[in-house]
Amino acid sequence: MKIAVFVSGGGTNLQAIIDNTKDGILQDVEIVLVLSSSKEAYALERAADNKIPSVVVSRKDFDSIEKWDDAVVEAVEKSGAELVVLAGYLSLLGPKIVSRYSNRIINIHPALIPSFCGAGMYGIRPHKAALAKGVKVSGATVHFVNENYDEGPILLQKAVDVLPDDTPESLQQRIMKECEWKILPQAIRLIADGRVIIENNICYVR
Ligand code: GAR
Repeated sequence: MKIAVFVSGGGTNLQAIIDNTKDGILQDVEIVLVLSSSKEAYALERAADNKIPSVVVSRKDFDSIEKWDDAVVEAVEKSGAELVVLAGYLSLLGPKIVSRYSNRIINIHPALIPSFCGAGMYGIRPHKAALAKGVKVSGATVHFVNENYDEGPILLQKAVDVLPDDTPESLQQRIMKECEWKILPQAIRLIADGRVIIENNICYVR
């Protein structure tokens, strides 16, 4: 299966996918495109280091959402990707890419949806909010993407205990290592194997 990975920052989730294509559970998966919302993203270096084609398509370089959305669609179509993976991608996708790739876009979110998600809940913020609420578990969610933040059908979730001396940073690191870097490749595996069915907005793994 050919995939496109969308990034905005450090790209540790991209790295987890790359590592799995080399000697893990995704050896039959090819990353045909890394699309970044920012030219500063370190994820672009990870793509270059691994000879993966990359492109920067930044909302601020276009004078309308429509033109930006068209450019995103064009880049993905040209790449031949069958699945789009949002791996730390922080822009809300435009309506055209969402409808064109309906049920073929997944996102990793660093909390147990429906907690600590939605507009403004990205990066370190869900972890700050989780500690401020005093939750005793948190984790990560892989879900399909619709036109709203963090709202589509949930495919996989994994939890960790919140420890008494956790800081937002320590919780973030533990969730990345123990949850995100595992369930994102696992979700791609399930989709590549045709094991995921969506009915009435609910995901089933068969
Ligand atoms: C990850 O924790 C990812 O779950 C989160 O941004 C981080 C990106 O890290 N995504 C969101 O908050 C999306 N709402 P990475 O660039 O090292 O993969």
